[in-house]
Amino acid sequence: MITKTTVQFLEEHPGLKYIFFGGKGGVGKTVLAGTAALWFAQQGKKTLLASTNPVHSLSSLLGQDVFGRHTPVIGVPNLYAYEIDTRDTIEKSKKEIREKIEWFLKYADIKTKADEFVESATMNPAFEESAMFENMIDLMFEDKYDVYVFDTAPTANARRLLGMSDVYSMWVNKMVQSRQEAQSLRELLSYSRKKKEKDPLMEYLLNLRTRMKHAKELLTDAEKTAFFFVTLPEALPIAVIRRFIHWFDEFGIPVGGVVVNMVIDKSRVGEDAPDFVKNRIAMQAEYLDEIARTFSDVRAVLPLFDTEVKGVEMLKRTAEYLFGGGETAT
Ligand SMILES: Nc1ncnc2c1ncn2[C@@H]1O[C@H](COP(=O)(O)OP(=O)(O)O)[C@@H](O)[C@H]1O
Ligand SMILES: [Mg+2]
Repeated sequence: MITKTTVQFLEEHPGLKYIFFGGKGGVGKTVLAGTAALWFAQQGKKTLLASTNPVHSLSSLLGQDVFGRHTPVIGVPNLYAYEIDTRDTIEKSKKEIREKIEWFLKYADIKTKADEFVESATMNPAFEESAMFENMIDLMFEDKYDVYVFDTAPTANARRLLGMSDVYSMWVNKMVQSRQEAQSLRELLSYSRKKKEKDPLMEYLLNLRTRMKHAKELLTDAEKTAFFFVTLPEALPIAVIRRFIHWFDEFGIPVGGVVVNMVIDKSRVGEDAPDFVKNRIAMQAEYLDEIARTFSDVRAVLPLFDTEVKGVEMLKRTAEYLFGGGETAT
């Protein structure tokens, strides 16, 4: 089923810097992000494992509090982990939006309280998602590490944002143009050569346009970025990543490949195993066939371990499968 392993893929992409894991909930994205980050750190790259997930999944994975700041991971040189404080981010974004709306109302001489506008702009789930996305691209722009591994790719959001970015940038260009025209008219009409007023809205738009462009460049750069998709040998997780991969291809976002997780190792199951185990193995076999037929870029197949994956030692063991090229008996 594997034609090119994770390591072979990485050898072909030596400049890889931004790595994401996507897939349905519970398939092992957090575990695999941790595993990949650990491996890159072991290769001598200064690596940040970052999460925009409101649940404290990284702290729990590593058995160490990594909330709110870049924290060195105990026992792994070069590895840092960082769980973004989502509440703080959202509050900051709200404040920023309030300031802009207030400025604009004043500028347009509209005597309305900003509250209503702020409410309607921020009281929706898309706002939180966007705030998380902003957080992620801020980290990417900072460029302080050799490698960034993101837990829980904001998949739908990345796609939406990138899809919108062309429309967005057209709109911003139009806004910028008409504001420039208005400004030069004003200058023509005024006798005194007043100094140009600072225009925060214009600054904001120009800044937004630059950021969107930069984010799009990074996220679609196949030398720097790869999204890996995680599935189990089960119907729903397969359907989810099939859809994701389709979207990503459409938008030119580079897909690194597929990782199959939690496959029961047949060689460890005897004849006397209970039926529910045998049935599950038969079910997995069918879906593994489907995976082999559907995806041409499976990079690794990982076994279902005896326990959940927690702590650095267990991540090292998981890395042997994700990067060892060893295929689980299927
Ligand atoms: N190969 C595996 N074997 C056993 N348990 C696993 C394996 N991969 C993940 N797990 C466990 O499954 C649960 C879900 O994994 P997690 O990485 O949190 O999924 P996600 O981030 O996609 O929601 C966790 O308890 C994790 O320890
Ligand atoms: Mg997770």
